Amino acid sequence: MAQQEQWTSKLTFILAAAGSAIGLGAIWKFPYVAGTSGGGAFFLVFLLFTLLVGFPLLLAEFVIGRSTQKEAISAYRSIAPGWSFIGRIGVFTAFILLSFYSVIGGWILLYFGASITGYVSSVDNYEQLFGTIISNPWTAVGSQLAFILLTIFVVSKGVKAGIEKASKWMMPALFVLFIVLIARSLTLDGAMEGVRFFLQPDFSKLTSEGVLFALGQSFFSLSLGVSVMVTYSSYLSKTESLTRSAASIVFMNIFITVLAGLAIFPAVFSLGFEPTEGPGLLFIVLPSVFAEMPGGMIFFVVFLALFLFATLTSAFSLLEIIVASVSKNSGERRSKAAWIVGLTIFVVGIPSALSNGLLADVTLFDKTIFDLLDYLVSNIMLPIGALLISIFVPLKMKREVLIAELTDGSSRGKKFLALWLLILKYFVPVLILIVFLDALGVFGG
Ligand code: PFF
Repeated sequence: MAQQEQWTSKLTFILAAAGSAIGLGAIWKFPYVAGTSGGGAFFLVFLLFTLLVGFPLLLAEFVIGRSTQKEAISAYRSIAPGWSFIGRIGVFTAFILLSFYSVIGGWILLYFGASITGYVSSVDNYEQLFGTIISNPWTAVGSQLAFILLTIFVVSKGVKAGIEKASKWMMPALFVLFIVLIARSLTLDGAMEGVRFFLQPDFSKLTSEGVLFALGQSFFSLSLGVSVMVTYSSYLSKTESLTRSAASIVFMNIFITVLAGLAIFPAVFSLGFEPTEGPGLLFIVLPSVFAEMPGGMIFFVVFLALFLFATLTSAFSLLEIIVASVSKNSGERRSKAAWIVGLTIFVVGIPSALSNGLLADVTLFDKTIFDLLDYLVSNIMLPIGALLISIFVPLKMKREVLIAELTDGSSRGKKFLALWLLILKYFVPVLILIVFLDALGVFGG
């Protein structure tokens, strides 16, 4: 690559980074994991982790990326030779993550197809619809392939041309549609029970494993621990405030998580579903809410288009980090790298796509292939990546660099920097270790 590409403005950087963050994590995963892991208590712990761990780590990834202006692997290497393994682990994590992420991306495509052809409005049992849609091996694999092809197509065209344009209006449109959805969901009979489930913490329902899920969820939904945010911020010019950018991304992410919860849980209780439904929760509950609205199916098609877009912008970021590293480190052209990497990810993802049908009986630790990979990435690999980054920054980065990246030179800025470093150095690693050990049962119970 000749010249390092740059975002055209701060807004496009924020939109792209927010685009990476906001996706299946907040909209699909959060409601179903919160549903199975204790509702309000899970949400509260997730919120605390996002603010106290996620925000400082997001800033850490930004600082690494912008100060080096390099992609994930070279960024670490250029600061401290011998530490590029953090970037390599990230690239590997992105690879596995995208392999199962694209399966859900495929489900959205299938729902989109089924709703524009009128098929969704012709059925009234959405649980059955979901079961049929995901268990057919041809549609499962075909839709996963279609999703990957869309992702490859955009990434192969380069950062600026590909990712920037559409983010500008799609994301706000998604917010607006969620508000409409919530208005309907909250006015259903018995909606308050769902609001209570979501917002009233009952800690007796939260297990040690639930706490680990909340940690994993806060990393997953902020795209942390993979060095995606390192790569994205490497395209950012030196004049923007990293702290403000990170704060707005964290805020938007929490906002959309709350919107998703408020859209789904009232409807779950009002329409007689179970919050513990699992990965199908959104796909079963939302069509039911839309069916309760005048012109609901049209809204549903629009919702799916925006949801698909949000999911694609996250997928772009995952493929982008791998392609940026591969093309930089192997000298391969970026478009060729995008095709080779993307198609390999598709092949690796096939067992995940089939794990809701043909391979449903293939399980390990009581989990299907899909569930196992999701568990491994969200609850083990992302926290490990995050742990390494929190150790790396205070240990290996020069103070002058941190001051230049994060402060305006004022004493207030330096105080903020000192606090941030303390959090990264002690609080984040210790917390991650405690949550790990607790989930393993080390502290009993
Ligand atoms: N944050 C994305 C989502 O919530 O859908 C998923 C993700 C993207 C995780 C990129 C990690 C990552 F590096």
